[in-house]
Amino acid sequence: MHSIIFIMGVSGSGKTTIGKLLSEQLVVPFFDADDFHPASNIEKMKVGIPLTDDDRKDWLQKINIIATEQLQFKGAVIACSALKEKYREQLARNVHKVEWIYLKGDYELIHQRMEKRLHHYFSASMLQSQFDLLEEPANAIKVDVHITEEAIVNSIVKQLHMKSAFGIIGLGVMGKSLALNMAGEGVPLSLFNRFVKDKEEKVATSFIESNPVLQNAKGFESTEEFVQSLEKPRKILLMVNAGAPTDTVIDELKPFLSAGDILIDGGNSFYKDTERRINDMLLHGIQFIGAGISGGEEGALKGPSIMPGGNKEAYEQVKYYLELIAAKDKNGKACCAYISAGGSGHFVKMVHNAIEYAEMQLLSEVYDVMRNGFDLSPDAIANEFSEWNQTEVNSYLLEITIAILQTKENKEWLLDKILDVGSSKGTGSWAVASAAELGVPSGMMTAALYARFLSAEKELRIKASEVFKNDRKAFNVGLNELKEAYTLARIINHYQGFELIKAAAKKYDWTIQLNELARIWTNGCIIRSALMEQFAEVVAESDHLLLHPTTISQIQKAKPSLIKVCIESLKAGFAVPALSEALNFLNGIVTKESAMNLIQAQRDYFGAHAYERIDDTTGKAHHTQWKQNKSHKQIEK
Ligand code: 6PG
Repeated sequence: MHSIIFIMGVSGSGKTTIGKLLSEQLVVPFFDADDFHPASNIEKMKVGIPLTDDDRKDWLQKINIIATEQLQFKGAVIACSALKEKYREQLARNVHKVEWIYLKGDYELIHQRMEKRLHHYFSASMLQSQFDLLEEPANAIKVDVHITEEAIVNSIVKQLHMKSAFGIIGLGVMGKSLALNMAGEGVPLSLFNRFVKDKEEKVATSFIESNPVLQNAKGFESTEEFVQSLEKPRKILLMVNAGAPTDTVIDELKPFLSAGDILIDGGNSFYKDTERRINDMLLHGIQFIGAGISGGEEGALKGPSIMPGGNKEAYEQVKYYLELIAAKDKNGKACCAYISAGGSGHFVKMVHNAIEYAEMQLLSEVYDVMRNGFDLSPDAIANEFSEWNQTEVNSYLLEITIAILQTKENKEWLLDKILDVGSSKGTGSWAVASAAELGVPSGMMTAALYARFLSAEKELRIKASEVFKNDRKAFNVGLNELKEAYTLARIINHYQGFELIKAAAKKYDWTIQLNELARIWTNGCIIRSALMEQFAEVVAESDHLLLHPTTISQIQKAKPSLIKVCIESLKAGFAVPALSEALNFLNGIVTKESAMNLIQAQRDYFGAHAYERIDDTTGKAHHTQWKQNKSHKQIEK
């Protein structure tokens, strides 16, 4: 793992000597910042005039460029006084992997040393000005320069190797897979899993022992030791259950963290909880990033899609690690991009999951119709889906559905042994509630969520099916019509999801690049698909997805099939809430004059809620005394 190691301290503290020795030991190049001073600075120092911040500006920038460049190769050791925090910030800007070594010595010792340095242009008389400027760094490995050069270098090397670059808390399925992914990329890790007597004991250490790729990782059950094992600023990924468990872990960490440390919540947290945590942690000087991570166990291991939101500067410091483990898009770019401020990362992940809910619901409706309406076997459906998957409806969810349909247990379909009651963990409900709060029509996700809730009424369904004799009838529409209906419903589903994100971005002042979001959803995540590839391009070209020429022609082509599939399946006794919601939405959105005027009139009738008139363009509210004389009066707003 390469890094830039800055050796800092006042003039005479031994930066050049120690830097050279250290670079030899670590086999990386050495740069002495003093060699890059412009002639004007050297002249000033020779005649004993201390440099001003202005004198240092270009010089620090030059060193920063060297650091950024060297990071792309083997890293480097750079000796530079870096006395003030703002110089250090300038030196380390965009250098994602940096170590500070502070050579600490008192005035007397350094003064004695300087008097012996005859040929250096920096005079001993200027030493006091250096001590005046010095702001001791909080996040550095401090080494006392009283000891021998060899002992100083040994101490630095030891301390450098002692610290891990990145920490992960929570070794459930996702935490473990992400740890393996990151360790495989060469990141020295510290891993923490809580201790629960007789249930979760030595989880981190046994995980490390059983995975050779984790040979450089360290395992902990003590929060304090885990935190102390990390380089500052600490970068810690939380992979714990959303809600109270996340707050508990944060509360346990807080006493041991320092200002500047960064926590990344990679769980499926509710975005408003993330906003609260960001604000709370800021009071302690700690940065909090809410990062949606999608891809399940396999994605986490091989490359998930990552949606980080929060403070941009904090993200810049962890970007390297997140991009390292993320999936890559078709151009080799990481499927990880900064979303926006606050809880935006978790908001888009919530919508991702809601799109996922409706995608799954659509597949289950199509499967149901094929199996029970067309009387096809799971094998035959898998074959048909395999053909679909070679076309524009290709998706990860379709791919896994094919595999599920082909799975047998004792020569019987495993699918037929699975109870038809849907579970959910929260993101779908939050998305539907958020859509209602923002006033965005999101019927697809709502239909999918309610289908899960309805499925939970298993006992009632059994009784009601006997009473109402809903023997779903065989029916036939062309498989191609079914495919077209499915294609169109998916477009509506994705459209609604993106509209919900647009509405949230407007309300919360988030600058979300939808094309970039669609791009990072083209690989690694559960809703990756050919349609997402199309959206990544379409969104970049158009403000309105539904009115983009590509979408228009797809809708026009497939709408007759969607109508036919909905009518026939409903007539035959099939519940197709997602397919029919797509058609209802479509019919609604293409209706210029709807019957909502009647609802407005009813509201005004019983509740004097008032309405707007189309013949009054001022937008004023009108009220009618409906019961008395049928006349209306205008209400001043
Ligand atoms: C993902 C998944 C993941 C998880 C869902 C399942 O993107 O990797 O969406 O987040 O599997 O939370 O949600 P339900 O349990 O609510 O279906």
